[in-house]
Amino acid sequence: MNKKEKYLEEVSRYVPSSAQTLSKYPGQFVIGVTPVAIIKGKGCYFWDVEGNKYMDTMLALGPMVFGYANDKIDKAVKKQIDDGTIFSLPSIHELELAKLLKEVVPCAEMSKFLMSGNEATSGAIRLARHITKRDHVAKCGYHGFQDWSICTKEGRSAGVPEILKTLTHDFVYNDPSSLEKIFVDYPDKIAAVILEPASSEKPTDNFLEKVKEIAHKHGAVLIFDEMVTGFRWALGGAQEYYGVIPDLACFGKAVSGGYPISIISGKTDIMKRLDEVFVSTTFGGFTLGVVAAIECIKMMREYGDVHKHMHEIGEYFMQQANQLSQKNNLQVEFVGYGPHPVMKVKIKDDYLSRVFKTFVYQEFNKSGILFSSSMMFGYEHKKKEIDLILKVYEEICRKLNGIVDYKDLEKKLEGKVMAPRSVRAQQ
Ligand SMILES: Cc1ncc(COP(=O)(O)O)c(C=O)c1O
Repeated sequence: MNKKEKYLEEVSRYVPSSAQTLSKYPGQFVIGVTPVAIIKGKGCYFWDVEGNKYMDTMLALGPMVFGYANDKIDKAVKKQIDDGTIFSLPSIHELELAKLLKEVVPCAEMSKFLMSGNEATSGAIRLARHITKRDHVAKCGYHGFQDWSICTKEGRSAGVPEILKTLTHDFVYNDPSSLEKIFVDYPDKIAAVILEPASSEKPTDNFLEKVKEIAHKHGAVLIFDEMVTGFRWALGGAQEYYGVIPDLACFGKAVSGGYPISIISGKTDIMKRLDEVFVSTTFGGFTLGVVAAIECIKMMREYGDVHKHMHEIGEYFMQQANQLSQKNNLQVEFVGYGPHPVMKVKIKDDYLSRVFKTFVYQEFNKSGILFSSSMMFGYEHKKKEIDLILKVYEEICRKLNGIVDYKDLEKKLEGKVMAPRSVRAQQ
């Protein structure tokens, strides 16, 4: 066992799955090679427990648009720490943030503040169920670990009552007929249609407009889960980027530079009905999250080029990386949007695909880059950083060029093969 494996072995005796979030579980990386624990971060870099510096291409799964330990955001937060973090009554900052959101997010006539993305999407679904007096939900993608959301996901629904699985129905992104079918199968029963407006797949053939039309035709509430796209695709989120305004939208991550807050925003007539449902939590309106969100939004407005930068830098990366992959005959493609490129490995065999990914991750790690196939770029990733990632990727491509049987690649792995996405424990 090397130092990293020993550390993980110890953590596994105290912390189930050795981490708190699926995307941070050791098995999702290269056990024995990937850094195991972080001591501090600055900008788009961090230092691990062994004192090594890495460039980060995940940005804590999305929040750190302005990088780790951003001076401006932290200054606002530190001032608030001195003034108190949570009170017995709402803080004055809640009104300021709600007003600011109304200025920048098209649907945000009113906003409610919670802590996690789970809470926001669950609050929005409960509100839709109350308003429509219907129980069923049509969804597309991931919206948090709560029962109604995760119940249809194979490998992740252990512990969810079977009965709840009958109330959630998945539709397929870019396939409006799959949504229409749910309304046909469950007439007058669907309370809400919830989806991420985009992720690695881009909407085609007016998909978002069609989803809105179908939802409204059948009397359902349209909810955009903007946990990833919000404040990342554009200041006003994907709804501004695509010009399709939902009834409700949920935000988190990029809005607040790493301090916890989640938001339900929406049209006044719908949001007012929150008076009638119970959506409440002790830390709702946590001042550090609220203050950080205000600062982040102001910075995005003041700098003016934050989202343009993320799109441009990420598009540049994808274009160059895809050229390198093609030149070296690799079965891999970077897809999606500049602020959130996704590496798609096109090797059909699941195990060999993971061997391939493990090798790519390993080589990035050995060159001082924390890599994930689900990348998040931020304002702190400048051309210098992107060119460094590309230089390392070029070298990786060169090493992979000519390998016909990826089984041979296994011998070049210096750590364990990555676990499938559904496996949580380290293997
Ligand atoms: C699209 C989407 N919705 C909801 C969530 C849940 O948010 P949280 O993890 O803050 O509860 C996530 C988290 O990754 C997400 O990506």
